[in-house]
Amino acid sequence: MRTQIAAANWKMNLSIEQAESLTDQLIAGEIHTSAHQLVLLAVPFPYLLTVKNKISKQSGVYVAAQNCASTTNGAYTGEVSAEMLKGMGISYVIIGHSERREYYHENNQILAAKVNMALEYGVQPVFCCGEPLSVREAGTQNSYVETQLKESLFHLDKEKLRHFIIAYEPIWAIGTGKTATSDQAQDMHAHIRKVIADYVGGEIADTVSILYGGSVKAANAAEIFGKKDVDGGLVGGASLVASEFNVIINSLKQ
Ligand code: PGA
Repeated sequence: MRTQIAAANWKMNLSIEQAESLTDQLIAGEIHTSAHQLVLLAVPFPYLLTVKNKISKQSGVYVAAQNCASTTNGAYTGEVSAEMLKGMGISYVIIGHSERREYYHENNQILAAKVNMALEYGVQPVFCCGEPLSVREAGTQNSYVETQLKESLFHLDKEKLRHFIIAYEPIWAIGTGKTATSDQAQDMHAHIRKVIADYVGGEIADTVSILYGGSVKAANAAEIFGKKDVDGGLVGGASLVASEFNVIINSLKQ
């Protein structure tokens, strides 16, 4: 089975005390992962090591960064490089979240450079894609997402896409409480897998974990994760409540 992943995206939330307490509560809720399951906690940069140390005894649970620089180390005030993440033992990084695309003008080309940096230093990207409402209403979401994938990922050697992690997050469903239906998610996930298969072949495409993101919560996770091509979720708001996120973890395919 493909790796099934519950990824928490804390975004720019929580004080350090709240971050520690949330981590403690998650652990107290008992996280059990099977061999094909993974839990990621994408926390703000300053909390990476604190949370990493707290979860060090939890098998299948890792911290992730929410972003990394598109360049190697140098005179780039305020940036954090993939090399720095690797040096701190951080093995996962979210790249291309819609909030980065919208507020920080990260286009497909910049994101391709970030993906390259992460892979060069052995940090696995969680690459986000997804369409805005206007595109969904126009019915052109498939080609929109296809372009995002092509322009940011399809320069890579095929083998680099083996066990890759992609998060499909329709922007109209992020933080809005408006979830895509499980059928809408499945349709797009199947499309994404086909687009990848056309590039790297079906055997490698079948190893790619495709997460759904956008108002996932305890009450809807099992239905969405139950779909054939949905391999878990990238969760914002509901990941800030331990009891919610523990249920979401338990909703991954067994
Ligand atoms: P949400 O955020 O779960 O709060 O909709 C998801 C995300 O932005 O990754």
